[in-house]
Amino acid sequence: METKQRENWGSRLGFLMAAAGSAVGLGNIWRFPYMTGENGGGAFIIIYLFFVLVVGLSVMVAEFAVGRRTQQSAVGAYKSVSNKWTFAGVLGVLSGFFIMGFYPVVGGWAVAYIFKSFTGLLAAPDAIGDVFGGFITSPTQPIIWFLIFLAMNTLIVAKGIAGGIEKAGKVLMPTLFVLLILIAMRSMTLPGAGAGLEFLFKPDFSKVTGATFLAALGQAFFSLSLGMGCMITYGSYLNKSENLHSNALMVTLMDTGVALLAGLAIFPALFAFGMEPAAGPGLVFVVVPQIFAAMGGAGTVFSAIFFVALTVAALTSSVSLMEVVVAYLIDSRGMERKPAVYLTSAIMVVTGLLSSLSLGVMSGVTFLGVGAFDFFDILTDKIFLAIGGMILAIFCGWVLKKEDLEDELTNGGTIKFGLFNVWYALIKYVIPVAVAFVAVSGIMAITQQSLMIFGIGIIVVLALFSKKL
Ligand code: PFF
Repeated sequence: METKQRENWGSRLGFLMAAAGSAVGLGNIWRFPYMTGENGGGAFIIIYLFFVLVVGLSVMVAEFAVGRRTQQSAVGAYKSVSNKWTFAGVLGVLSGFFIMGFYPVVGGWAVAYIFKSFTGLLAAPDAIGDVFGGFITSPTQPIIWFLIFLAMNTLIVAKGIAGGIEKAGKVLMPTLFVLLILIAMRSMTLPGAGAGLEFLFKPDFSKVTGATFLAALGQAFFSLSLGMGCMITYGSYLNKSENLHSNALMVTLMDTGVALLAGLAIFPALFAFGMEPAAGPGLVFVVVPQIFAAMGGAGTVFSAIFFVALTVAALTSSVSLMEVVVAYLIDSRGMERKPAVYLTSAIMVVTGLLSSLSLGVMSGVTFLGVGAFDFFDILTDKIFLAIGGMILAIFCGWVLKKEDLEDELTNGGTIKFGLFNVWYALIKYVIPVAVAFVAVSGIMAITQQSLMIFGIGIIVVLALFSKKL
């Protein structure tokens, strides 16, 4: 593997904030609660935490190491070893592109809710659920907000790595954290909140199936921004003197902390208001405004700040998603940054439009049994990211040299990584087998089997044509 100099992060904090900014996003605050709700609560959380700490953390260390070692974004990193592996990087680019098929749509909802906080949403708490349903199925409103969100995203990425991404994260991530703590405190002290805590912390394993495991694994990868080369790209910008494993641990802990906080903010209130935990993707947009509505006048301001912070958290993630696609066009296709960004963004306008409309007027238009929104979501979260993570683990464990990895993770022997051998055994043996097992048992238990098989087909085709990519 060659090593060359590359633009670096402005500071250690800058990197941590950017990597945590990528990890912490809609996945934690919008997705984690409704996945928990749909998958039965506590048992899902335990399985999720296990996957985060054992699989996710190890894969993150691996992604940082590969990125910094090769000084390349995902595709280049794989390619630098052999053309046979290019497909794995391209699979990551495709995942990033597909996630961006729905992510900015939800980002747009968050932007819209900043304004809705002021325009009467909170005045009629009983209608909050219907307002959300009416909003996301409308053929115009959510699209305008989606375009606004995507435009902000495009501008940040067009400005380049250190400048755009770092600044956005530094201020609003801590704000989001503080706000979530406040909301969680309010939520947990509502009358009847105890049932929510029980739902979160009293696991009921009778509801667990192969599909629960796959959902938890997919959520772990999605939330930690793993399995698609994003952290490879970020690692490639990381200074040679930084400690990769302690950075990975910090990002993982922050990410998990925010997800759990979001759970604590939402479920106690949800039960206090007598709502349904399996209500699906609307959860955060329905429950959180209700908490604020119950606060009176100050609630309006808190609600607006919350959705500003959610928007920024979403932006710092979607920026990293777009960056994976853009970095590929720049590094592997020889494009300049600006044209690469605008081209990517133009295509994402189309995929986002399809996604948004698939929730309303185009809900009858399906492919392999799902609309565009679900197509992008399920394909990436339930198959591409997990398989992408598995391929990375195989690549690290069986293709790269153990000495090179040890050298990278100990900064040439200058820092200690006491768990190196444990990590290496996990990456080489445990994770490939575990992910394969979970994927197979999950696919057998899931209802969208034809979509899963289609996804695996895409991966196989990419692998077959790897040398041409
Ligand atoms: N981790 C982000 C979130 O939880 O919202 C989503 C994401 C970002 C996934 C970047 C993957 C990625 F590469």
